[in-house]
Amino acid sequence: EQIKKGDFDHFMKKEIHEQPDSLTTSMRGRLKDGVVGLGGLKDHMRTIRRSRRIIFIGCGTSYHAALAARPIMEELTDIPVTMEIASDMLDRKALIFKEDTAVFVSQSGETADTLLALEYALQHGALCVGVTNTVGSTLARKTHCGVHINAGCEIGVASTKAYTCQIVVMVMMALAIGSDKMSTLAQREAIIAGLTKLPEKVHDVLKLDGEMKALAQSLIDEQSLLMFGRGNNYATALEGALKVKEVALMHSEGMLAGEMKHGPLALVDEYLPIIVIATRDDSFSKQQSVIQQLHARKGRLIVMCSEGDASLVCPDGRSRVIEVPRVVDCLQPIINIIPMQLLAYHLTVLRGYNVDQPRNLAKSVTTQ
Ligand code: G6P
Repeated sequence: EQIKKGDFDHFMKKEIHEQPDSLTTSMRGRLKDGVVGLGGLKDHMRTIRRSRRIIFIGCGTSYHAALAARPIMEELTDIPVTMEIASDMLDRKALIFKEDTAVFVSQSGETADTLLALEYALQHGALCVGVTNTVGSTLARKTHCGVHINAGCEIGVASTKAYTCQIVVMVMMALAIGSDKMSTLAQREAIIAGLTKLPEKVHDVLKLDGEMKALAQSLIDEQSLLMFGRGNNYATALEGALKVKEVALMHSEGMLAGEMKHGPLALVDEYLPIIVIATRDDSFSKQQSVIQQLHARKGRLIVMCSEGDASLVCPDGRSRVIEVPRVVDCLQPIINIIPMQLLAYHLTVLRGYNVDQPRNLAKSVTTQ
């Protein structure tokens, strides 16, 4: 086991640090001369483009990856994208039609809830697409078509490198499905250029390891941690909070910043730590106003912003700031989750819990 971990103490740490490589592998052979080629979808592309709706379905981290890719999928394809947590889709017997494309996202390809939702969608005649890390898995076999994320074997129960590779694959899917639209050509070219540079940027953000350890040290005895995000980074808030609760065994909630004034604001005081994701994109000015409102209530803030923006997001120097490299908007969630993964990792180690095998959890939940 130690040999497999290499120079790292835990699989989770190893897998976090593998991300520049896993992302490179995920993209390998799929970005040629500014065009995205996804062999697994080729024969079904006409049907996907004609679908009335795309439904993203998954559980846990895989659901969050789909949520992160949703805005760009809608923007580049002009097809409405809805989200389903697999168990909830089954509980509600959600409406699904043969004009739908149902995209099932699962690292293992064996999660019972996701596979049951797949059976359900197949029965209703939808085109079923798989996004998985496991070649030969049930998901890969039973879907009509799909894309392997090629993140490499993930052993830590908390998913890290699979999450970022899932997002990259779904961004590539959005590029491929939307590649017939002239109106978005410049945007697509910018995203492809961003994908090419992404592993290097991920390498840069991993340098925050020491800073995240120090932040973890300052949060070690807290009962609770909130994370606010919106737009492209709503998923980052949910996934960051999931990482903290599943491995560090600390209560943590990710929240849509737009909903803050509808309830969560009541929780704000000078003690409860709140991470606000305020990197540059269309939502930046709205997040600046969220920060002001939290300051006005003496909130204890930790603000994640783009490099060089510290004085903008925190003019009085009262909050802790995490500066991350800026990338094209739809890829920013990949950069932003990495400090959160590191924070969850260090919190876990400092609190003395099992990083790779958190209590009560399994890597793959194969029962309902
Ligand atoms: C379990 C794991 C999570 C994972 C979820 C979905 O709950 O503990 O880390 O996100 O299953 O797994 P999947 O293999 O379908 O992505």
